[in-house]
Amino acid sequence: MKKPLKSEELDLSIASLAFGGRGVARQDGFVIFVEGAVPGDRVRAVVTHARRSYAEARVRKLLNSSPERVKPRCRHFGVCGGCSWQTLAYDAQLRYKQSQVTECLEHIGGIHGFEVDEPLAAEPLWRYRNKVEFSFSSGENLDLGFHLPGEWRRVVNIQDCLLHSETTNAIRNAVRNFARDTGLAAWEQQSETGFWRHLVLREGMNTGEVMVNIVTGPGAFPDAGNFAARLTADFPRIASLIWSVNTTRASIATGFPFTVLAGRDHIFEEIRGLRLKVAPPSFMQTNTAMAEQLYARALSYANLKENEFVFDLYCGIGSIALLMARSCSEVFGVEIVEDAVRLARENAKANGITNYTFVSGKVRTMLKDIELERRPDAIMLDPPRAGASKKEVQRIIDLGAPRLIYVSCNASTMASNASQLAASGYRLVRVGAVDMFPHTPHIETVSLFERG
Ligand SMILES: C[S@@+](CC[C@H](N)C(=O)[O-])C[C@H]1O[C@@H](n2cnc3c(N)ncnc32)[C@H](O)[C@@H]1O
Repeated sequence: MKKPLKSEELDLSIASLAFGGRGVARQDGFVIFVEGAVPGDRVRAVVTHARRSYAEARVRKLLNSSPERVKPRCRHFGVCGGCSWQTLAYDAQLRYKQSQVTECLEHIGGIHGFEVDEPLAAEPLWRYRNKVEFSFSSGENLDLGFHLPGEWRRVVNIQDCLLHSETTNAIRNAVRNFARDTGLAAWEQQSETGFWRHLVLREGMNTGEVMVNIVTGPGAFPDAGNFAARLTADFPRIASLIWSVNTTRASIATGFPFTVLAGRDHIFEEIRGLRLKVAPPSFMQTNTAMAEQLYARALSYANLKENEFVFDLYCGIGSIALLMARSCSEVFGVEIVEDAVRLARENAKANGITNYTFVSGKVRTMLKDIELERRPDAIMLDPPRAGASKKEVQRIIDLGAPRLIYVSCNASTMASNASQLAASGYRLVRVGAVDMFPHTPHIETVSLFERG
């Protein structure tokens, strides 16, 4: 087995896609992960990292194009690091996502013998995101866009991102023009100077309402009244214009005190007939159209009965809990973000739902302290990307629910949680992917586990 060397150029045939999205080639029994390649390509690639058991490489030249390769649609492709799968035909994207779910469950989880439902294809394929987050950086000009891959100081100055709507693209460009006119610089982490930090845009895809959240460092917002009046006049769909101040070094955009410059501190979105109030910093699925399908699949796996008592763990603003409340006797939701729990209760009230309890805290501690008169009949869990911790999974197992429905945005952490569930007597009955993130390697799944 000949180990490739760093900076060496290799001619490689790409056989498949790895979890995370890179092409996989084999040379003399050695595995090479190739950035920018799709299965079926023959490429000349330069080795960027040579490890003991595998190497990483980047495409330098396309020698023979795969029949599944398509022309990228986005004008920023190749510079911006996002949407790396837009060179792969959509049906192939879906097929690879489907097989990666099974591979994760079999190889990471050690689980076999489950049913795999057809993946739900994304519709629409472009401009599907209801939330986007941009950063400012100062170069020759003040730029606003996504960070260049591996670069935390510079951003790609985005003009039209095909992940979100034309309206929110135009709003981003208008905010950039205004920020440039002020003459103030972007916040710089090292020197802790400058003003402009981030822009977060949220859009209620079914209501048309837009939230604009401008995040700055400390200092006065220049000409705030005039700016708010102009922006809301030019974009009347802005229902909430807020200014957040991040005085910390942390390069994050949410969770800071904010001032409302125009409109309200929230917007509304509608999902499967539920009207949901959404505010920073609470989570909402970023693809509204596919969230409707995700929830439909989760509810169909849950197959709730009228008299059942159901948990929704990691419940956010209560979207799944409130949908389940319509078909069971009571739901109990747990969520760490206090503001999200407040919204979940408000959302319940506004939708005329009364059979709920939402509590704020960590799943691990809430489940430890809980005293129940009744065991849950089913548990819905939708943890963040890192999955549930081992202790959290153990507490969930200890509740003894006959059915678990696991919604996941990371098939590998879901698979390791599944392995712990299987070791405690839960059988994976079925799993189905829902494509929430076309043109990216991200995979969303719903799984049904039954006890005994
Ligand atoms: C993937 S989101 C799911 C939200 C919700 N199910 C939905 O579809 O809108 C995960 C949620 O888990 C919450 N969270 C993260 N860690 C947590 C923990 N240890 N305990 C409780 N909630 C947690 C996050 O704040 C976030 O709202």
